Amino acid sequence: MKVWILLLSLVHGLYLDPSNLTNLQENTALIAKGLLDYYDGKNYGGVIGMFTWPYYWWEAGGAWGSLIEYTALMENDTYVPLIKQALTYQTGDDDNYIPLNQSTTEGNDDQGFWGLAVMSAAERNFSNPDDPKKAWLTLAQAVFNTMAARWDTGECGGGLRWQIFQWNSGYDYKNSVSNGCLFNIGARLARYTRNDSYVEWCERVFDWMYGSGFLTEGEWWFVYDGAKVDNNCSNITKLQWTYNQGLMMSGSAYLYNYTEDTKWLERTEHFLEAAQVFFKEDVMYEAACQPSNSCNQDQRSFKAYFSRFLGQTAVMVPQTYDVIMNYLKTSAIAAAESCSGGSDGHTCGLNWTNGTGWDGVWGLGEQMSALEVMTQLRAGDVPAPYTAENGGSSLADPAAGFGTSHTDSSPLVLGTKDKAGAGIITAIIGSSLIGSVVWLVL
Ligand SMILES: *[C@@H]1O[C@H](CO)[C@@H](O)[C@H](O)[C@H]1NC(C)=O
Ligand SMILES: *[C@@H]1O[C@H](CO)[C@@H](O)[C@H](O)[C@H]1NC(C)=O
Ligand SMILES: *[C@@H]1O[C@H](CO)[C@@H](O)[C@H](O)[C@H]1NC(C)=O
Ligand SMILES: *[C@@H]1O[C@H](CO)[C@@H](O)[C@H](O)[C@H]1NC(C)=O
Ligand SMILES: *[C@@H]1O[C@H](CO)[C@@H](O)[C@H](O)[C@H]1NC(C)=O
Ligand SMILES: *[C@@H]1O[C@H](CO)[C@@H](O)[C@H](O)[C@H]1NC(C)=O
Ligand SMILES: *[C@@H]1O[C@H](CO)[C@@H](O)[C@H](O)[C@H]1NC(C)=O
Ligand SMILES: *[C@@H]1O[C@H](CO)[C@@H](O)[C@H](O)[C@H]1NC(C)=O
Ligand SMILES: *[C@@H]1O[C@H](CO)[C@@H](O)[C@H](O)[C@H]1NC(C)=O
Ligand SMILES: *[C@@H]1O[C@H](CO)[C@@H](O)[C@H](O)[C@H]1NC(C)=O
Repeated sequence: MKVWILLLSLVHGLYLDPSNLTNLQENTALIAKGLLDYYDGKNYGGVIGMFTWPYYWWEAGGAWGSLIEYTALMENDTYVPLIKQALTYQTGDDDNYIPLNQSTTEGNDDQGFWGLAVMSAAERNFSNPDDPKKAWLTLAQAVFNTMAARWDTGECGGGLRWQIFQWNSGYDYKNSVSNGCLFNIGARLARYTRNDSYVEWCERVFDWMYGSGFLTEGEWWFVYDGAKVDNNCSNITKLQWTYNQGLMMSGSAYLYNYTEDTKWLERTEHFLEAAQVFFKEDVMYEAACQPSNSCNQDQRSFKAYFSRFLGQTAVMVPQTYDVIMNYLKTSAIAAAESCSGGSDGHTCGLNWTNGTGWDGVWGLGEQMSALEVMTQLRAGDVPAPYTAENGGSSLADPAAGFGTSHTDSSPLVLGTKDKAGAGIITAIIGSSLIGSVVWLVL
């Protein structure tokens, strides 16, 4: 076993030259292809938009976001039809990313990650789908509106819960990723549409997160994971994840870019400064789980979003560009070196420590993270995310999201009617599971 690992580490990974566009395009094309090895939609009987087990629906939203950025920044349209098909297939009956298949388990953060993806599609001017209800901007507004409708002042004075549905474990937890998604999408909608109602929402989210101790101020601006609602959210889970730091940093950067209020500039800079806890010799790592070798499938993809949020920040607040590009370059070169595994010989690993090669770990998250850290090197080389005023063509519907079925409502308090509805969903899904078990047995 040891000999095998030693041999693996002698195999060179990809050689990345951040200043050479052709080199970047070739490397990222290989990694994107590896990412799509996990795509379920291409399999016989597979579901469009989903990735294979054990990757959850939310991470699919994350992965489409990675591919949208890849398309725009590496200037390669190959996957546009695939991406558009996935984004439009998974919207659910009410076009708000609460599809029936997920509605027994979906959390606010899960919906949020699809919202982040369609927001990118709008900002990168992906062409409008035929159905105006599925226009990227409209979908992002639908996600924002339905999340904002779940704002819960009943406990802890505000905030979003982790879960949407009362019957899911985690409904008693309020967390930074759910609130951070609302904040980030709101900030980007504000800039895209120039509608200040979104800024007001962002202020509300930020102030609540700060007031409840999810954000620390002072020397280091950290973003903690969340807290159970017991005792007024006072027992904070002090885990720090790259994607939470990134959501708040990039959201602040968009708000500064749009409002030019120096408060948001300072916040952006503080979040960036504190983000140094996620770098070792300028190489990015997931500090809460990588050293202890305990990252789960979800956590193994966080560096992808963090890279994206860093790229956005560098563009929205040019003062941060040099610091961020230095982080991204060093990390991307190290990440490329880790891409020497698997049967294709360029599967990427989790640990990017410079000079150590592939660490023997692989998966969707590893591919996404390596892809995005390389992709974002070009954040400043392509047009900044568009807005409605300077070239973005996505259609708006500020009231989107509230369709006719009950799955889109804000089910904070379940009436008898909703409970019956929930029972029906469970019954449908339960019987289809039983159906497939029977089918397997036969
Ligand atoms: C850029 O990368 C391409 C592809 O790897 C390579 O063929 C070319 O020689 C490189 N150009 C420079 C100037 O290094
Ligand atoms: C565009 O992407 C496709 C699929 O990944 C790849 O085969 C092709 O070489 C890429 N083209 C460029 C110019 O990067
Ligand atoms: C929901 O699940 C069924 C059964 O797996 C599948 O056929 C369908 O395409 C799924 N729909 C969505 C939107 O994922
Ligand atoms: C601005 O956004 C708010 C909140 O989503 C919405 O209610 C309002 O209609 C929007 N206004 C315009 C002019 O689009
Ligand atoms: C609960 O927390 C909220 C937000 O931090 C705060 O505004 C409120 O005063 C607290 N309530 C009590 C009873 O401590
Ligand atoms: C605070 O939460 C931790 C788990 O995150 C738990 O172990 C501990 O008992 C809690 N403390 C209190 C006072 O509730
Ligand atoms: C990555 O691997 C190197 C070399 O094996 C090791 O020294 C380092 O601690 C690892 N880093 C993390 C964050 O796991
Ligand atoms: C907003 O972003 C654009 C694009 O990068 C940049 O040119 C502009 O200077 C930024 N505005 C502010 C206030 O930083
Ligand atoms: C990475 O390691 C190589 C040797 O393995 C060294 O030449 C290079 O300078 C290192 N890069 C960084 C950014 O530390
Ligand atoms: C955005 O897309 C629309 C329609 O596809 C196009 O007319 C417009 O020129 C594009 N904007 C930019 C800045 O390329």
